[in-house]
Amino acid sequence: MGVWLSRLALGKASSAYDRRKARVIEFQLNGKLVTANSPADTPLLWVIRDELKLKGTKFGCGIAMCGACTVHLDGIALRSCVTRLSAVANKSMTTIEGLDSKEGQALKAAWVSEQVPQCGYCQSGQLMQAANLLADNSNPSDDDITAAMNGNLCRCMAYSRIRKAIKAAVNGAKN
Ligand code: FES
Ligand code: FES
Repeated sequence: MGVWLSRLALGKASSAYDRRKARVIEFQLNGKLVTANSPADTPLLWVIRDELKLKGTKFGCGIAMCGACTVHLDGIALRSCVTRLSAVANKSMTTIEGLDSKEGQALKAAWVSEQVPQCGYCQSGQLMQAANLLADNSNPSDDDITAAMNGNLCRCMAYSRIRKAIKAAVNGAKN
């Protein structure tokens, strides 16, 4: 009886695992339709980096505390380390590799002219967060910038250059 029950339990567990494993999830990635085969509860960051091989999005903390893994989902910035793959089904995701919006281009130019990065590790997350800010608010105040960028950490303390570059991007977009 004990063996029979444990076989039944194993059978249930393995079919649940197979169902979880088998699901293919489709979504737009940087303007192209892609499919992902990872289990639906896989953190999106691992799918982006390991399955889809886009390495610009970084792992920092894994608990939504640093912003290194920021991507856009349907135009909204989110932390991919705590987002499941299933959340992107049939949606549109943008990573740093596909950041070519007007705001994104202005920010990238300002990042270069202001020489923002030091080690560079946090920078794709910073740019994705800043692009989301400028898409929502084309003329942010200092307080708006602080509120939007507060959760994106930089261990090299490039904060003043990041702020300067966001302001430069705003001014560049006005000209
Ligand atoms: S790695 Fe996602 S917020 Fe830090
Ligand atoms: S530039 Fe090094 S962590 Fe931000």
